Amino acid sequence: MNKITIAIDGHSSCGKSTMAKDLAREIGYVYIDTGAMYRAVTLYCLQNGLITDEGIDTNELKKHMDKISITFLLNPVTGRPDTYLNGVCVEDKIRTLEVSGKVSYVAALDFVREAMVDLQRLMGEAKGVIMDGRDIGTVVFPNAELKIFVTASDEIRAKRRYDELTAKGEKCNMEDILANIRERDRIDSTRAVSPLRKADDAIILDNSNMSIAEQKEWLLAQYQRVTAG
Ligand code: DC
Repeated sequence: MNKITIAIDGHSSCGKSTMAKDLAREIGYVYIDTGAMYRAVTLYCLQNGLITDEGIDTNELKKHMDKISITFLLNPVTGRPDTYLNGVCVEDKIRTLEVSGKVSYVAALDFVREAMVDLQRLMGEAKGVIMDGRDIGTVVFPNAELKIFVTASDEIRAKRRYDELTAKGEKCNMEDILANIRERDRIDSTRAVSPLRKADDAIILDNSNMSIAEQKEWLLAQYQRVTAG
């Protein structure tokens, strides 16, 4: 059967990556978390003093772009890909509230997006890929055979992120997380370059009241429908 490209876009913390990873594992596709790539660039900025209280030193960051290498490596224990920044596994470091609080500003920079989109197209060149992000169906792979736009209520998304962070032992509170999610959605949807929007041919999935198992089943059915013909 010919392999297809699956684009999963949508709001922050609505479980896109969980459903995308599960489907990838089930059908033997490569999963690429493009949010992790923007998070890794943000972590690099924080580690190298390129983000201060005054903002991002964009001139300096431009000079550093070719020193930033982002790769994914399958973790044999979790069965899911981990993100590596310049050869170091940063899977946990890129998920902290510190990175979450800055990533939307980094992801709004045109030269950062150009570099990440080039890399994403290269990674998805051979098809058989599930990519999740904000602009996959609109910009990265506008010809993807299956496009999903995922959303859920703000409160439910905040609760899911809160549970995820507390499970990892990170101290956090609901109000901060809810504010961060709303602020990221605002910046992602209103930025000048590749704002978050549903592609005209994307199918909407509101998973506010769905379990992970139900989402998985729904997504698998969409994949089977598209590949059946
Ligand atoms: O999916 P996430 O929360 O890990 O994404 C982190 C940030 O990166 C989020 O603020 C939106 C941005 N992003 C983007 O602009 N384009 C993508 N393709 C993926 C993520």
